[in-house]
Amino acid sequence: MKTVLKWLGIVLGFVVVIAGCLAAYINFRPDPTYDVALPAFTSVSTPESVHRGKILVLSLCAECHRDPVTKQLTGRLMQDLPEQFGTAYSRNITQHPTKGIGAWSDAEIAWLLRTGIHPKTKKYVPAWMVKLPHVSDQDMNAIISFLRSDDPLVVAADVQNRESDASLFAKFLMFVGAFKPYDYPTAAIAHPDTTNSVKYGEYLADNVFACFACHSKDFASNDDMTPTKSAGYYGGGNMMPDYNKVLVPTSNITPDKATGIGAWTEAQFVSTMKHGFRPDGSLLRYPMGRLAHVSDHELSCIYAYLKTIPSISNAVPKPPMPAMSANPSAGEKAYNSYGCVHCHGASGLGFADLQLADKKYSSDSVLTDVILHTTTYYPETAMPAWDGKIKPADLPEIVKHVRDLGKKSGR
Ligand code: HEC
Ligand code: HEC
Ligand code: HEC
Repeated sequence: MKTVLKWLGIVLGFVVVIAGCLAAYINFRPDPTYDVALPAFTSVSTPESVHRGKILVLSLCAECHRDPVTKQLTGRLMQDLPEQFGTAYSRNITQHPTKGIGAWSDAEIAWLLRTGIHPKTKKYVPAWMVKLPHVSDQDMNAIISFLRSDDPLVVAADVQNRESDASLFAKFLMFVGAFKPYDYPTAAIAHPDTTNSVKYGEYLADNVFACFACHSKDFASNDDMTPTKSAGYYGGGNMMPDYNKVLVPTSNITPDKATGIGAWTEAQFVSTMKHGFRPDGSLLRYPMGRLAHVSDHELSCIYAYLKTIPSISNAVPKPPMPAMSANPSAGEKAYNSYGCVHCHGASGLGFADLQLADKKYSSDSVLTDVILHTTTYYPETAMPAWDGKIKPADLPEIVKHVRDLGKKSGR
């Protein structure tokens, strides 16, 4: 018995040493690099392509790249990234020649967005950066036209990048190939027939907005090349961390009547996606954002497509609400229950910055107006319109709480 234990000890010791060496190797080896074979891609800018590009960039890139302080695509901390992945900052993608991507060629941008391989460092940009292997060449052209336009979101901003720091776990996932780049397409990708609502809806849902990626069972069992082969395709249950470190499961959006959205009408779907409130009046919680800029026609195409996919019976639990302080004020309670906390975080600093609102809007009536009619102040905002949603008695309490958050932050 003793010898068995002794040998077991030696073997285990060996395993530990090897695991340690492997971990050290993965941690300290240089990040893997990949070949870069730039395609022949030159964007052609027209007023239509810039307009379309703005819709795509607002819906696909702004959430991560728009700094809540500069209001431009100058990069920000990826605050809701699960801790096990390390720390990540998105980058300045305005036209600044050295700090932004002003000096990048169109082909370099297309290469990065399609493959995930950074054209300069030749490294893989992390999994949480959007990749668009299947968008049409026409939509790729639109995105690049917009990034090159004179829109205030992208004009050169002299803002220094902050460097990301991938954790050992993230490096391990790269090592075992869980995160890996896509091949650059070998043929042109035609724009789908926009009059075929089911086909166009499939393109928008799977290839442009990647709804399937969040709404299927798990990122690990998704099939990015053939989305329909993803486990639990659109059946929901994939857990998403929010700004308050609460895990929010994605909804089942298959046509299942009891557990999916089979009972929703087209008008209800379009309105939910546009305004961010479900038919029962409840708010869509972050990270599900409203698609305010996408046209009703396109949203109804997505609806038409979702109606055709196989139903999955999967009752997704309701996520818990974020914790409140020990003795919450009426304002904090309202801030929590209406769902301001999902986007603005318990401290006022989440997806959007609320800590400066107290100083910016010294009059209560103006601050109330900013909350109720946000688009007057921020025409492109992701914040839903609260007019008619908040009980008049709760408004002064919420305003007070917003002021408290600003004062507490000391900014
Ligand atoms: C989920 C968050 C997220 C989304 C969405 C996103 N990005 Fe990024 N992006 C990042 C992060 C994080 C990095 C930095 C990666 C790193 O540090 O290696 C990055 C890096 C980049 C870079 C490299 C810039 C440089 O200087 O190295 C470009 C270009 C870029 N993104 C463009 C886009 C465009 C265009 C879109 C929309 C089509 C987009 N990104 C959507 C998170 C995101
Ligand atoms: C970043 C991940 C993510 C992406 C991408 C995403 N969703 Fe969601 N979605 C969620 C989460 C999380 C919820 C649950 C929100 C909640 O509990 O309030 C949700 C909820 C929904 C709901 C509400 C369903 C119900 O029964 O309440 C609909 C409809 C929906 N999403 C449609 C879409 C469509 C269509 C797309 C693509 C255009 C999409 N989502 C893209 C994460 C995502
Ligand atoms: C879906 C996310 C979301 C929700 C929910 C949300 N907001 Fe916002 N809010 C934003 C974003 C994004 C901005 C930043 C404006 C911009 O640049 O688009 C913002 C801006 C604001 C501002 C202006 C800040 C400034 O500095 O000018 C106030 C005030 C505000 N929100 C209050 C609230 C209150 C109160 C609630 C709840 C009743 C709420 N928000 C719910 C996303 C959200």
